[in-house]
Amino acid sequence: MTDTPKLPDNPVFVALDTPDLDLALRWCEAVRGHVGGVKTGLEFFSANGADGVRTIVDTGLPIFLDLKFHDIPNTVAGAVRAVAGLGAAIVNVHASGGPAMLDAARNAAEQAGGPARPLVIAVTVLTSMDDGDLRAVGQAAPAEEQVVRLAALSRDHGLDGVVCSPAEIGPIRAACGPDFKLIVPGIRPDWAVSGDQKRITTPREARDRGADVLVIGRPITGADDPAAAAARISKELA
Ligand code: C5P
Repeated sequence: MTDTPKLPDNPVFVALDTPDLDLALRWCEAVRGHVGGVKTGLEFFSANGADGVRTIVDTGLPIFLDLKFHDIPNTVAGAVRAVAGLGAAIVNVHASGGPAMLDAARNAAEQAGGPARPLVIAVTVLTSMDDGDLRAVGQAAPAEEQVVRLAALSRDHGLDGVVCSPAEIGPIRAACGPDFKLIVPGIRPDWAVSGDQKRITTPREARDRGADVLVIGRPITGADDPAAAAARISKELA
């Protein structure tokens, strides 16, 4: 097994939530030097495909490709190999795909990436789901128990960490130990509007609670001056 890939010193990954490649590239240029990397998700990928990802990779900024794979093990393995080949630094899968799928994802990253393999991260319970939603799909509530169960399962099957809300950092850290990577969205500097994020934490507090990566979108990309906003966050974390 290869060593866990190193994350950038700066924990901020900017969410490039747009289908517009030119706008994403402008954001990359603005934040370069102030952040650790960028995140692109299904919206960007569906609009721009692998070529769009390569274009972002070519900027030199580490990229978290947030595509949340969830399929049979063989298919997920193929998808992880494909995105590892694009140069993604972080990829993710749904933990609820189960043990064999998690093993397949981890092994595929290992084979595809060699020493530079991407970090393979799990999504536990989508934060858009509450206890009632969990029961509706036949899963045991409360959500926090399911989150910790899936995080521990992911760790046991060789995944590098999970995406979690600021509120979940403590319980997951307690269950999964100090080396398990915690990637945390729902971050708002105290000078930014919260928008639709409800349970929010400042960058500093999330980092102090034990987050390894802070995913921050609109406080930077929606700012009048994205470079200044990214620089301000970076300074607050220093
Ligand atoms: O603009 P904002 O900072 O809210 O963006 C946060 C990013 O993190 C978005 O790309 C969003 O989809 C993602 N995300 C989230 N909450 C989760 C998982 C991912 O906000 N539980």
